[in-house]
Amino acid sequence: MWDVIIIGAGASGLMCAIEAGKRGRKVLVLEHAKRAGQKIIMSGGGRCNFTNLYTEPANFLCDNPHFVKSALSRYTQWDFIALVDKHKISWNERDHGQLFCDDSAKQIVAMLLNEAKEAGVQVQVQCEIFSHAKLADNHFSVQTKLGDYECHSLVVATGGLSLPKMGATPLAYKIADQYEIPVKATRAGLVPFTLQPSQKEKFAELSGIGLPARATCQVTSGKKSKDISFSEALLFTHRGLSGPVILQISNYWQVGEKISLDLLPDLDLFAELLHAQKNHPDQALKTVLAQQLPKRVVECLLAFSEIESLPLKQYHEKQLQEITQLFQHWSPEINGTEGYRTAEVTLGGIDTDFVSSKTFACKSVAGLYFIGEALDVTGWLGGFNFQWAWACGWAAGQEV
Ligand code: FDA
Repeated sequence: MWDVIIIGAGASGLMCAIEAGKRGRKVLVLEHAKRAGQKIIMSGGGRCNFTNLYTEPANFLCDNPHFVKSALSRYTQWDFIALVDKHKISWNERDHGQLFCDDSAKQIVAMLLNEAKEAGVQVQVQCEIFSHAKLADNHFSVQTKLGDYECHSLVVATGGLSLPKMGATPLAYKIADQYEIPVKATRAGLVPFTLQPSQKEKFAELSGIGLPARATCQVTSGKKSKDISFSEALLFTHRGLSGPVILQISNYWQVGEKISLDLLPDLDLFAELLHAQKNHPDQALKTVLAQQLPKRVVECLLAFSEIESLPLKQYHEKQLQEITQLFQHWSPEINGTEGYRTAEVTLGGIDTDFVSSKTFACKSVAGLYFIGEALDVTGWLGGFNFQWAWACGWAAGQEV
């Protein structure tokens, strides 16, 4: 009989295992993939953006915005940095407080596995889960390809649906279903957009071009609506739009809604065009615009909107306003997202109203815990999702 079985040897599962093991609990982690921490290894372009210096509850999407507060305040970014430092893993800070390993994300997995080993945790990989059942109070049985196991506390840490090729499965939602715990509708998050066929064809020629941009999207909660914006790099792809600014806004975008892109976020283009018109009336429109933006982007957007590039003196003020609108409030026709195939996270998930924000114990089933991305909690791009995984894994690890 195990004290604790954790299903999923990812970020949250390993952190929970370490903490429970340190408390003297007999812990078994069951992982169906060939190795632990696969997503950690491929994260941050192989360097793992393991936390963010400015982590706050406001960086997370959850139907109950208060749910994340307890865990994030009990295990902070500084706690994880201290762990990384203890293992002498060198790191660097990038824009917006994002922390990455200098060398390799594999160091983070090695660190977690070393800590788990020291805490006496057993990690069993290539272990397919067939079924599980609650036999009595605080007593579960788990049937697997490698045999049957029994435990007092069962922790579900199997993550979300993104990157099925890397081993993502809906097991957490199925287990929730088995115990009649509601699951909020799931969809791909931190994911590139695809464009409607007509725009996709026209903008595909810009594939590979990147530029700074601000993306804005309207978010409605109950009767209230507000705009949310992110300023980061935009990347044109052969399918549509990507880059950090798109991944960030994708968390807030809903099917059928529009986003607005400002391709010159640090400029008042209308004022700039009026100024140029006054001082250089014979200069062609595209020459002026190409001083601020990649030439191919200028040509492509003008052609798409059927705006001819003429000497500036030939435009009325209203036309200059329309040109400004095109470059500073461009509303691309979004077809959808690239889906779980390329998404970094899953929005929605297990309803947090049914889980304790302090212990992550399921309120209706004694001994059952849900942690990590499987819950209806999604962070922004920038190390927030790992910080959530560490924080809730740590918190559950104090209780199981
Ligand atoms: P996680 O996915 O880490 O672990 C779940 C584990 O459960 C996996 O090992 C899986 O194989 C296992 N599992 C699933 N189904 C199972 C089953 N049926 N039986 C047994 N085991 C099962 N975040 C961030 O903060 N910084 C970053 O740099 C990145 N980069 C990044 C890149 C890419 C390409 C992706 C896809 C994602 C990121 N993320 C990220 C997001 C981050 O990886 C993610 O939010 C956390 O890993 C979630 O931690 P969990 O423990 O919840 O799931």
